[in-house]
This record gives sequence, C-alpha cells and structure tokens, in this order.
Amino acid sequence: MKKIMITGALGQIGTELVLKCRSLYGNDNVLATDIREPEPASSLSNGPFEILDVTDRKHMNQLVESFQPDTLMHMAALLSAKAEKNPIFAWDLNMGGLMNALEVAREYDLQFFTPSSIGAFGPSTPKVNTPQVTIQRPTSMYGVNKVAGELLCQYYFEKFNVDTRSVRFPGLISHVKEPGGGTTDYAVDIYFQAVRQGKYTSYIAQDTYMDMMFMDDAIDAIIQLMEADGVKLINRNAYNLSAMSIEPEMVKASIQEYLPDFELSYDVDPQRQAIADSWPNSIDVSCARAEWGFDPKYDLNKMTEVMLEAIKQK
Ligand code: SER
Repeated sequence: MKKIMITGALGQIGTELVLKCRSLYGNDNVLATDIREPEPASSLSNGPFEILDVTDRKHMNQLVESFQPDTLMHMAALLSAKAEKNPIFAWDLNMGGLMNALEVAREYDLQFFTPSSIGAFGPSTPKVNTPQVTIQRPTSMYGVNKVAGELLCQYYFEKFNVDTRSVRFPGLISHVKEPGGGTTDYAVDIYFQAVRQGKYTSYIAQDTYMDMMFMDDAIDAIIQLMEADGVKLINRNAYNLSAMSIEPEMVKASIQEYLPDFELSYDVDPQRQAIADSWPNSIDVSCARAEWGFDPKYDLNKMTEVMLEAIKQK
C-alpha cells in the first residue's frame, strides 16, 4: 500500500483516514476525493483532492487512470438513519458506489478496502458476543446494503482475485469530524454538548447497549488490516470490530468523572431507537485479534478524557 485513492474523504472516517495515510505514505501519495469541495482552510489541503461522485464510474476510472493508485479505500456512503429516511437513494448511492469501486479495483488490480458495520446484523442475530459468522438478516436499508456489500467483497475476492478487505465498524467516536445521519451519533454528540452546554438530551434510550470505538483505534485498525499478510485472512467479507459495549448512562458516568455537573435526559427518537434495538449489544472480535492482531487502545474512560479535552481546546 503506497499510493492510495480514498472516496468519501470529507466524511467522518475519511477526514482522519486521509491525514493518517498521508502521514504514513506521503502527502502526494494519497488522493482524497469527495462529492463536495473541502473548506478553504481544510486539513486535507496538504495533498491532492478531486471532486468525485462515486455513482459516476467513468469519472472514477479517469481519476484512477491519472493518479495510478495501488489501493482504493471506498468510504463514501449514507449512514443508517439517513438511509432509512431515503432508502431508494441509499441503495443507489451505497450499492452503486460500491459496485463502481469494486469494478475499478478489479480492472486496475487495486487492493481494496470498504467498511461494513454492526448494522449488517439484525434482530434475529445473537445479541451478546455476536459471532463473526452468524445470522445476518438486518431490517434497515443500511443493513441490507452492508450485507450485500460484504457478500460482494467476498465475491470479488473469490471470483476475480481482488484483494478485498473489510471490517464491521461499531459506532465511531471522534472529536475531529462530527458524524451525520447515524444511529450511534449520540455517543459523539453527548461529548460536544457536555462541554458546550453541560447537558445532553439523548435520542437513544437508557440501557440500549451498542458497540463503540474511538476513531484513532478505527483508523489504526484499517491500516493494520491493509498491511496484514493476506494469507492469514480467513474472512474476506468483514471482521467484527469493537472496543466497548456501552449505553448512555455509562457515558454519563464517565463524563461526570471530569464534569460532575453534567446532566443527561432522554427524548427517544423511535426510528433511531428501532434501528439500535435491532443491532447487537456486544460483538465478538476474536477473529480480528487472531488473524491480524486487532488491539484497540481506548476504553470508555480513556476515550472520555481525550474527547473532553480535545473539544475544550476547540
Ligand atoms: N455508525 C453507523 C450508524 O450509526 C453504524 O455503522 O449508522
């Protein structure tokens, strides 16, 4: 992995992934692309950037032709809550974009990464310690897209020998870029509001456990998986990943260690709650640990400390 093209570079993961890849492989070796222009003073202005609508395969091909990457990281996608509001658009963007990216990877022999999600599980999946290989019958459009995406990655690996690699990300928590349109976003918003307002109203109900991970661990996991010896990778669809299984009261208690007056109340959003209820409480990450050494560094309290401090500095 030396020359990388990244789609969805202005998204929640893409923003930090581009910077990390540039620091490892050189600014000029990482082409960031997104459907929108970055802000004029964006952190991404330290290297090449191109506008790209991932549903435009011809343009994607042209960018690969001219940049000549050896790796494609396809991050552009609509998250779960937004996808549920506009399912047909979500299908077109999430599946159309992924097919284009896989086809480009096949044609130009690129190593390939795209994230799946805990959203690829559904209400009939075992909820606790969810195995790597298990029932996947999600009930959201986002989940349907993710399962289809996982199967496509496996298919392109087996049928066309494309070096596809993927993970099932849990909710990702970052102070750099706020997410947009996910079900797990509460676990990011809560930190920003704790610093700005001293209180937060959660749209996810008390006792709703979901897996989460700090963004630094997520980015490190992508790099580690992409650098891993392919021979050791048994799972070519997507590896379960998580660093913690948490619910809102646990985040509250952790924040109160630093901000004792922080208050948490609830105003549950039925749509996002239904999605959260259909996902696992905690997933088993033993395959990722065994096959390529996944080893997240942040637990809830360590993450809380870093989040609150970074948001205060802003
Ligand atoms: N964080 C994502 C979402 O909530 C899950 O993949 O949609």
